[in-house]
Amino acid sequence: MTAARTQSAPADTAVSAFPAGFLWGAATAAYQIEGAVDVDGRTPSIWDTFSRTPGRTAGGDTGDRATDHYRRYSQDVRLMSELGLGAYRFSVSWSRVQPTGRGPAVERGLDFYRRLVDELLEHGIEPAVTLYHWDLPQDLEDIGGWPARDTAGRFADYVALVAEALGDRVGIWTTLNEPWCSAFLGYGSGVHAPGRTDWAAALRAAHHLNLGHGRAVEVLRAALPRDARIAVSLNLHEVRPLTGSAADREAARRIDAVGNRVFTGPMLNGSYPEDLLADTAHLVDWPTLVHDGDLATIARPIDLLGVNYYSPTVVSALPDGQAPDSAAAARDAGHGDGAQSPFAGCADVLFHRAPGPRTAMGWPIDPTGLSDMLLRLHREHPGLPLMVTENGAAFEDVLTDEGRVHDPQRIDYLREHLDAVRQAIAAGADVRGYFLWSLMDNFEWAYGYGKRFGLYHVDYDTQTRTAKDSARWYAEVIRHGALPDPA
Ligand code: FCB
Repeated sequence: MTAARTQSAPADTAVSAFPAGFLWGAATAAYQIEGAVDVDGRTPSIWDTFSRTPGRTAGGDTGDRATDHYRRYSQDVRLMSELGLGAYRFSVSWSRVQPTGRGPAVERGLDFYRRLVDELLEHGIEPAVTLYHWDLPQDLEDIGGWPARDTAGRFADYVALVAEALGDRVGIWTTLNEPWCSAFLGYGSGVHAPGRTDWAAALRAAHHLNLGHGRAVEVLRAALPRDARIAVSLNLHEVRPLTGSAADREAARRIDAVGNRVFTGPMLNGSYPEDLLADTAHLVDWPTLVHDGDLATIARPIDLLGVNYYSPTVVSALPDGQAPDSAAAARDAGHGDGAQSPFAGCADVLFHRAPGPRTAMGWPIDPTGLSDMLLRLHREHPGLPLMVTENGAAFEDVLTDEGRVHDPQRIDYLREHLDAVRQAIAAGADVRGYFLWSLMDNFEWAYGYGKRFGLYHVDYDTQTRTAKDSARWYAEVIRHGALPDPA
């Protein structure tokens, strides 16, 4: 296992310096970058099916080609090396490794990840593997998907195959990326694959994702060397009530339950919160859903909690007598026109976008949400190291005739959010690293290729990568292990 690159800050930047050993990374996900969807034995995942269904993604975009990373991975590792990355977080495509979601591994599929890991290690970059970033093999969806209990077991078997292939060379393992999105956007609001709109199914999916996580932790613990670090990445919602009224605080409590504690409760405390069970009892029969022993499995200790953060969530109670308008609620929550609110059983909660600057996604920019979330986790789960596994922003980037992308807004966003991380560390939070989303522009799910989050601009016709100004800026931050002055 290769030691990550770390730097100590020069004395004059000590004030904004990060701790020695802080891991500087960037992140991607398989379906968003790989392309090559039908080579070397890969079969469709739910995202292939969903994106090929008319009306599901902006412009009908699919991940068929994406950034062609499957073929261009060596070039992309060189870009990471130019940035000076200490670590790279990528996900493994389940249907490349185990096309039907069961049975033996396809070696050609695993070989791609073996080559990628080798290339990273040769460049001194620590690989951080995400085992599931939303791309369930379609064959498993066809027999029930995550709402079916069996999928948790299938996931554990797949994890064993990947651990066997890469376990000797990968030190950081993330079981799931943002299971909230898989469960509630995939099976509740339907804006993500597989596009189902059934609250009971969404809650069952949440439990089986939790169970899949716990079983994966068991498999990884048994298969990996003792110094491997096992994590899960959650998109925890920094929920804020619009006012201090009792009704708005109650709305915030409910969103916190079904947005956050539905995962942190069983994973970190060994139980589902009582208020969540009561709030959703009309949607799902929890005593039937949760079998004896499940909670002990889900609560297997992890070594790191991955936090993905983009924006805070501001909520209020629906005024008395006003009928819920779930389409508006979903729109205001930033989850697309026409969809229902992705928060199960919360159609009477209103979502607000704070005034002030926003990204091209329409997401308000508020770095205090990140520091507040890190400090809350530090308070509630003392002793559990944290890692920011995603943070970044889309803006309307323009490639100039001179081949430059001037993206001062992204630099500002990154500086402010990294400063929020630094402040959380100064206040006691044990944050071990930061993975910027994303290394390069890519397929942004239902938004297609229109939203660009990358440090590298990608011309999707020629597949040319161009460093944005933010890439140069981030390289400087990494080099000094500290934030430069804004001037
Ligand atoms: C997160 C996803 C990631 C990317 C960013 C913008 O929710 O995990 O794949 O789409 O949002």
